[in-house]
Amino acid sequence: MTDDTAPPAGPKLPTERPSERPGLIATYRRLWPHLWPHGRPDLQRRVFLAFGLLLAAKLVTMVTPFTFKWITDALVAAIGGQDAPTPKGLLAAPMLLIALYGVSRIAMSALTQIRDGLFAKVAMHAVRRLALQTFEHMHRLSLRFHLERKTGGLTRVLERGRAGIEELSRLMVLTLVPTIVEFVLVLGVLAYEFNWTYAATAFLTVAAYLAFTYKATEWRIAIRRRMNASDTDANTRAVDSLLNYETVKYFGAERREAARYDESMARYEKASTQTYVSLAVLNAGQAVIFTLGMTVVMWLAARDILAGRTTIGGFVLANTMLVQLSMPLNFMGMIYREIKQALIDIDDMFRILGQNPEIADRPGAAPLKVAGGTVRFADVRFAYNPERPILRGVSFEIPAGQTVAVVGPSGAGKSTLSRLLFRFYEPQSGRISIDGQDIAAVTQASLRAAIGMVPQDTVLFNDTIGYNIRYGRADATDAELREAARLAQIDGFVSGLPEGYDTPVGERGLKLSGGEKQRVAIARTILKAPPILVLDEATSALDSFTEAEIQAALDRVSRGRTTLVIAHRLSTVVNADAILVLDHGRIVERGTHAELLEAGGVYAALWDRQREADAALEVLQRADAPVVPRPGRTAVPETEAAE
Ligand SMILES: Nc1ncnc2c1ncn2[C@@H]1O[C@H](COP(=O)(O)OP(=O)(O)O)[C@@H](O)[C@H]1O
Ligand SMILES: [Mg+2]
Repeated sequence: MTDDTAPPAGPKLPTERPSERPGLIATYRRLWPHLWPHGRPDLQRRVFLAFGLLLAAKLVTMVTPFTFKWITDALVAAIGGQDAPTPKGLLAAPMLLIALYGVSRIAMSALTQIRDGLFAKVAMHAVRRLALQTFEHMHRLSLRFHLERKTGGLTRVLERGRAGIEELSRLMVLTLVPTIVEFVLVLGVLAYEFNWTYAATAFLTVAAYLAFTYKATEWRIAIRRRMNASDTDANTRAVDSLLNYETVKYFGAERREAARYDESMARYEKASTQTYVSLAVLNAGQAVIFTLGMTVVMWLAARDILAGRTTIGGFVLANTMLVQLSMPLNFMGMIYREIKQALIDIDDMFRILGQNPEIADRPGAAPLKVAGGTVRFADVRFAYNPERPILRGVSFEIPAGQTVAVVGPSGAGKSTLSRLLFRFYEPQSGRISIDGQDIAAVTQASLRAAIGMVPQDTVLFNDTIGYNIRYGRADATDAELREAARLAQIDGFVSGLPEGYDTPVGERGLKLSGGEKQRVAIARTILKAPPILVLDEATSALDSFTEAEIQAALDRVSRGRTTLVIAHRLSTVVNADAILVLDHGRIVERGTHAELLEAGGVYAALWDRQREADAALEVLQRADAPVVPRPGRTAVPETEAAE
């Protein structure tokens, strides 16, 4: 109960609820430049007009209680008037005043509505700008940030921040400021119409009311924070669990998943119940304070009537004005809560905006100029975590237009090489260069434009196949699109689909098989047509038949391009100009396929082992064939496949 920065159990939400918060004013000051529509004179005019309407509406609001006073006094005079010569003539006055009352009420709400409509555009413009800014910034932040931060949590920060700005500008401008204006007017009227004791009583009442609201709300915000944290946590877990739908089924883990989810929901249940209880406390306290103040003012008025210092109309005026003020004040509790909450949500968003991208362009970085595309790694050392080095001094060169393959056991750091080349991470020491230019010194955009990447695990956008292929180059023509698909050998598959290129691929591309996804990835890289190509186990998701076909396509694509091939299966790299064997963060062997076999080292051993495994697999795949090697097939070693 005391700790509101982290949920009591389960995975911690990293950097989610830091205890250090800038104050309300500080956050508001940071937000202000975003709210004020710079460079948009049309929107600025709207702001001024809205404030003009606000003042007008509040002045009209003040007329309403006065009409009550005048009506009452006129009626009192009409029926009980001691010196009323013609009751008929006097009765016309209350009727006119009642009409005035109606007109003032209508004018008040009309002015308010027009103002709200005018201001909505200003607020929404600010929301859009800041949301866009945050979104762009999220893309600037490093891969490390995104891997550590849960995507579900991140999008909710964006969503809540966006809602927060909308809420804040609405509440401040449409409710808080008008109420302050009204309060000042009420104090003035009370002092002028009655005397300073009335004004002082109203002032003290509202001060006590606001102080209580502030205290109670501070307490409630801690509860709200816990509620938000558990809500985010539950949501992240649900998203993660559903993304892993298939894995959950493989392990029959539905109950476990449900229990994990329920654990977060239990925390949410507890926190949100507390929210309701605390709301009741807040509302009750507010009612008591305001009623006490009202009672005092009415007692003062009654005393003054009896003393002949004011009329019955005066009593009605004081009462009506306070009741009228109590309406926005009632919201004041909610408004403070919401403003504070909105500021917290906005602050979360600002925190993301405040995160410096780990990888940033150096000041004055020039774009990369690719001549042939020679890639060099010079004594590169790298670790994701300082305790565990992944690369311990890797040096190699891919001469322009050549293909170099990196092989080695899983986890050796092969994909890491491609992430470093793409500058998702920065090496701790050593240098990576393209045509002699350090990749850390050129702009990221130009670097990434020069490199095509077919990753190990392809994730697709939840859109059509055509959209995903065209992602390689948005302005590609239909003919180019089809040609790329043909080269990647996916055209046959696509033309077999009823909807062709318009077939949706599902979230992350789940409706396609691994091989189909991989071919989409190849096709879009073909469209991009970069001078440098990285194939990270590009064919690992394919069966050996398709692999052979795609290998031909890849060979064609990589011709004339500097290519880094990362391969698990050695059969795909026999034609590479050079093969590097990476093990434990070092290159332990290098040479052509023939040279490495000749040397009889790690590579040769791996080669033998994979040949045997491939052969055994092939036998198993021939479902209706007898499970014995056919004589004469050299690929099947005598010792293995049978039995
Ligand atoms: N973002 C990361 N944070 C920490 N460790 C990582 C990260 N990505 C990969 N690793 C670790 O680095 C090692 C090398 O990974 P990787 O280069 O992907 O291997 P592979 O040779 O199979 O492609 C692995 O042990 C992996 O667990
Ligand atoms: Mg890998």
